[in-house]
Amino acid sequence: MRKLCAGNWKMNGLKAEALALVRGLAARVKAEPLACDVLVCPPATVLAAVAAAIGDSGIALGGQDCHPADRGAHTGDVSAPMLKDAGCRFVIVGHSERRADHGESDAMVRAKGEAALRAGLSVIFCIGETLAERDAGRTLEVVGRQIESSLPPGLEAGDFAVAYEPVWAIGTGRTPTAAQVAEVHGHIRRAIAAKTREQDSVRLLYGGSVKPENAVALMAAGDVDGALVGGASLVAADFWAIARACG
Ligand code: PGA
Repeated sequence: MRKLCAGNWKMNGLKAEALALVRGLAARVKAEPLACDVLVCPPATVLAAVAAAIGDSGIALGGQDCHPADRGAHTGDVSAPMLKDAGCRFVIVGHSERRADHGESDAMVRAKGEAALRAGLSVIFCIGETLAERDAGRTLEVVGRQIESSLPPGLEAGDFAVAYEPVWAIGTGRTPTAAQVAEVHGHIRRAIAAKTREQDSVRLLYGGSVKPENAVALMAAGDVDGALVGGASLVAADFWAIARACG
């Protein structure tokens, strides 16, 4: 299946930086079309500017989070219909930084996913174990529970992807081995199959310290259908190199 290379810019990118980044990326994509899909998820404040700069390059736009409600009295939040209206096709939900910083539970992540689906967005559900959970040998149990509780029922393959992001690998420079990634992705695929009628056609992304230097090995691990990239997505040349590794 066609891989997905997704860039999660997190809380980075004033307008000038964001425009320089996406223009650099669009120029590369236009000069040398990729064999994978490319997605950027900038902060909400620059979505409109980035959408305009993306032009006809084929790069997709996504949000980093959405509220479970479509509208209403929720100061500071962004709804899924707002993301759609701003030109997004995707949204990330359940990122470990949201789970940690905002106390988001699996039930909350599921409600956000449902809101995104109502709005016609494709959802990237993030899951992953902490270091303590891995050290305790609970990785498969944890990601299995997150799949069971964070994904809404009735999902179809085209509606969603799952990003496996070990919390201890995010922003740390540490990564699991290809064998560890393959083991967890295989387990995730079986958990998805048990929960939905979809399995082989769901994209499973790996995220956590993906860099140009390790992307080829991580993308070659079994059952990996793309990458969710944080820090390295802020440098056009690095993100481009990772996207090429995905293709
Ligand atoms: P990182 O972040 O690539 O900076 O480790 C990945 C993520 O949090 O999605």
